[in-house]
Amino acid sequence: MAAAREHFGSRLGFILAAAGSAVGIGNLVAFPVAATKSGGGAFLLVYALFVFFICLPVMMAELALGRKSDKDPVGAYRQVSGGSRFWSLPGWLALVTPFMIAVFYLVVTVWILGYLVEALRGNLDQLATGAYFGQFINSPMVFVYLIVVMLGINGILTLGVKDGIERAAKTLMPMLFVMLLALVIFVLTRENAMLGVKYYLIPDFSKINPEVISKAMAQAFFSLSLGMGIMITYGSYMKKQDSIPSSSRAVAITDTLVAFTAGLLILPSIFHFNPQINPAELSDSSAGMIFLFLPKIFYALQSSIGYFGASAFAAVFFFLVLVAALTSLVSIIEVPVATLRDERNMDRKKAIYTIAAVQLVLAICCAVSFGLVQWFTEFATIAGENKSFFDLVEMIFYDTILPLNGLLVCLFVIYKWKRANFDRELQEGDSGFAGTFSQKYVNFSLGTFIPLILLLIFINTLALKFFGHSFI
Ligand code: TRP
Repeated sequence: MAAAREHFGSRLGFILAAAGSAVGIGNLVAFPVAATKSGGGAFLLVYALFVFFICLPVMMAELALGRKSDKDPVGAYRQVSGGSRFWSLPGWLALVTPFMIAVFYLVVTVWILGYLVEALRGNLDQLATGAYFGQFINSPMVFVYLIVVMLGINGILTLGVKDGIERAAKTLMPMLFVMLLALVIFVLTRENAMLGVKYYLIPDFSKINPEVISKAMAQAFFSLSLGMGIMITYGSYMKKQDSIPSSSRAVAITDTLVAFTAGLLILPSIFHFNPQINPAELSDSSAGMIFLFLPKIFYALQSSIGYFGASAFAAVFFFLVLVAALTSLVSIIEVPVATLRDERNMDRKKAIYTIAAVQLVLAICCAVSFGLVQWFTEFATIAGENKSFFDLVEMIFYDTILPLNGLLVCLFVIYKWKRANFDRELQEGDSGFAGTFSQKYVNFSLGTFIPLILLLIFINTLALKFFGHSFI
């Protein structure tokens, strides 16, 4: 007989853990850059509308499904569908997706740890050369850092939901908020900082086109940890007396606020570095920004605060990103752990070791796909371009499959589980929810236009990534 299901100890604990999951590298870097390039305040507005009107209902659906079934995603779909073969597919997708995203994200996190260590060792000048990145990702240290990161994450997971995941979130998230604010305050006092703020905030509605709208939507969906099985799993650890609607709102607000605040750090830093810069030329990729561009900016701070000050600033920044990445990784690896425990009756430790062993092998395959091993470096050719193993994992699982998973959750909750049952679960712990505008909206939108939008995004990404052209 399995032990009683673990639960989060408090509502705040859940909110911080779920926000820890949602806040990641994308919030801190990709979001501010995307916003600045795509209409500033206008993008922010579109993004916020998507978060609250499209993504929030999906989050509620995932949490409700998890809490109702008290199971991992595979078990949740099976139980609620009464064992339907068709509906086992999204369950398996909600297992494989987080598993593979974790592999790819682990490698990026390892690089961040590497950059943090180098900044602390006084090697910011090296990091700022740009050429360092290529050397570093192909150096043996990557494997050492990989072990360190995996020990940290799996160490937290071994302690369980309340003493591991929740406690880590309660320590790390406030730390993240403080570091972020401290960096923002410092940067805003620099010369030309306000130029960056202007670029970031002044709305330019002429930039809003279908492509920008689809980008904002994909970014919002991805940022909130949706379609990854995480919210289903975390929902299963929620207590019945906690309100799903209001907790989801708190998570969405926190995630959005962190992303917004990160813009007040990134843009002013860029404009302090170069007031003439054309933001359209900034790299779209988070990795390009973090490892190639930002170190140059940090290094340049030495003219006003000295080399030591600049290194300290860089170290705090990399630590901030590391914390954001670790809390996301913890949440995403908990999904396969929960599945092995629920579906295979494994105990927590054994599940963690099993997953860590496979992930270690796959993460090494990703890590060597930048030149160290040719077979992984030239793994496939897609739409005429060479793709490494790392690229392929990112493309399939990080970029493409999430909206499909989201679409399946919506359809499942509304048409298989049924609206009335879903509503009942949302009212559990929130008796005032029944009959509100929000309840009617969530119920209606999840069965109609939200799955449609997710379908469009899925098809568009598929066409764009795998066939090289976009419909939008
Ligand atoms: N918000 C994350 C980011 O900005 C994306 C994300 C959400 C994520 N949940 C995750 C990444 C879990 C890894 C694991 O990067």
